[in-house]
Amino acid sequence: MTTAATRQIRLVRTPAGIPTEEDFECVAVALPALEPGQVRVAPTFLSLDPYLRLQMAKRHLSGNLLPGQPVISELVGTITESNDPRLEPGQTVAGFGAWADLTTIAADGLRTLDFGALPPSLALGVLGMPGLTAYAGVSELLKPGPDDVLVVSAAAGPVGSTVGQLALARGATVIGIAGGPEKCRWVVEEAGFSACIDHRSEDIATRLRELVPQGPSQYFDNVGGELLRTILVNMKPHGRIALCGIMDDYNSDTRSPGPLPLEIIGARATLMGLVVYDYEHLRADMISTVAGLIEAKKFAWREDVSEGLESAPSAFVRLMQGRNFGKTLVHLKS
Ligand SMILES: NC(=O)c1ccc[n+]([C@@H]2O[C@H](COP(=O)([O-])OP(=O)(O)OC[C@H]3O[C@@H](n4cnc5c(N)ncnc54)[C@H](OP(=O)(O)O)[C@@H]3O)[C@@H](O)[C@H]2O)c1
Repeated sequence: MTTAATRQIRLVRTPAGIPTEEDFECVAVALPALEPGQVRVAPTFLSLDPYLRLQMAKRHLSGNLLPGQPVISELVGTITESNDPRLEPGQTVAGFGAWADLTTIAADGLRTLDFGALPPSLALGVLGMPGLTAYAGVSELLKPGPDDVLVVSAAAGPVGSTVGQLALARGATVIGIAGGPEKCRWVVEEAGFSACIDHRSEDIATRLRELVPQGPSQYFDNVGGELLRTILVNMKPHGRIALCGIMDDYNSDTRSPGPLPLEIIGARATLMGLVVYDYEHLRADMISTVAGLIEAKKFAWREDVSEGLESAPSAFVRLMQGRNFGKTLVHLKS
C-alpha cells in the first residue's frame, strides 16, 4: 500500500448568506497508505446538494461541515487501489468521499454500480439520493392517484422532476413551479407535466386558481417559506403536503415563520415531514421503477455538469442561488 498526493476542496469559513467561491480553497494534501478495509477512489462525478449548505450552518442532521475540513459529498468514481478483498481497482462505485482528485473511502460505505446502458452519474441524481427522496414522497407519503392534482416546487431539479414524473405515472395531474421560462418549458415539454408556473414572472396564487379552480389536493414542497404558505391557503380542503426541503431558508440566518396554525386548520391539511434516510430499504424498488420509466422513454432527466475539480465551489454557489438547471454535478477527468 502506497501513499498518494491529491488536490482537495476545503471550506475556509462558514458562509454568510449565499455562499461565495471565497468560502472554499483548493489545497494539495498527502493521503496516508490505505488501512485494511479502505479503498482509494478517483471520482468521475461529484454530487453537489443543497443539504451541504445546512451542514455548513451546523443545522443538518447528517453532521456539520466546519472551516478547515474537506467538503465530503456523494460521488461516483473508479477504484484505483484497494485494501479490501471485496473490491478491486477498475470497479465503478458510489459512496461518500472528499471533493478531490483522489479520496480514501471505507469499502463498507461503497456500492458498486450496474445500471446497464444508463450513465453511472444517474447514481447521484434520479437513480440516487434525490430519486429515492422523490420515490419515498410519492409512494409512501402522498400516494397520488388519478383524482389528484399534485403541485411540486423546484420542478426542474432531480427531486422535483422525479416527483412529478412518478405522480404522472400513477395517473395524477401534475403542476410544477420553477424559476424562468427555460425551466418551465422543459418541465412541460420534456418531463410531461400538465403546466408549470414561473415563480420569477407569474403571480403564483392567481395562476394556480386559473389552472385548478378547486385547488390542488397535494403539494410536494422543496422550498418552504412564503411559497409553502401560498400553496397551502389555495389547496383543496383535506389536502396533503410532503415537506421535503427549505431552499428559501438555507442561505438565511433567520427562519421563515411557515404557515400559521390557523391556515393549516382552515385548509384541514395534513403536513408530513420527509427524511430520505428513513427509506434506504426502498432504493432497489426506486431504481427499478425509475430506470424502467427511463428505458420506456417515459421519464426525462437533466444534469448540470461543471468541468474540473476547481469548478466545484462556483457550481455550488450557482446551486444555492437557484441558477442550476438539473442535477448539479462536477465532472473530473480520470
Ligand atoms: N428531506 C430530504 O430527505 C431531502 C433529500 C434530498 C433533497 N431534499 C431537498 O429537496 C430540494 C430539492 O433538491 P434538489 O437536489 O432536487 O435541488 P435542485 O432542484 O436541483 O436545486 C434547488 C432548486 O430550488 C429552487 N429554488 C426555489 N427557491 C429558491 C431559493 N430561494 N433559493 C435558491 N433556490 C431556490 C431553484 O429552482 P427554481 O429556480 O426552478 O425554483 C433551484 O434550482 C432541496 O430543498 C433539498 O434540500 C430533501
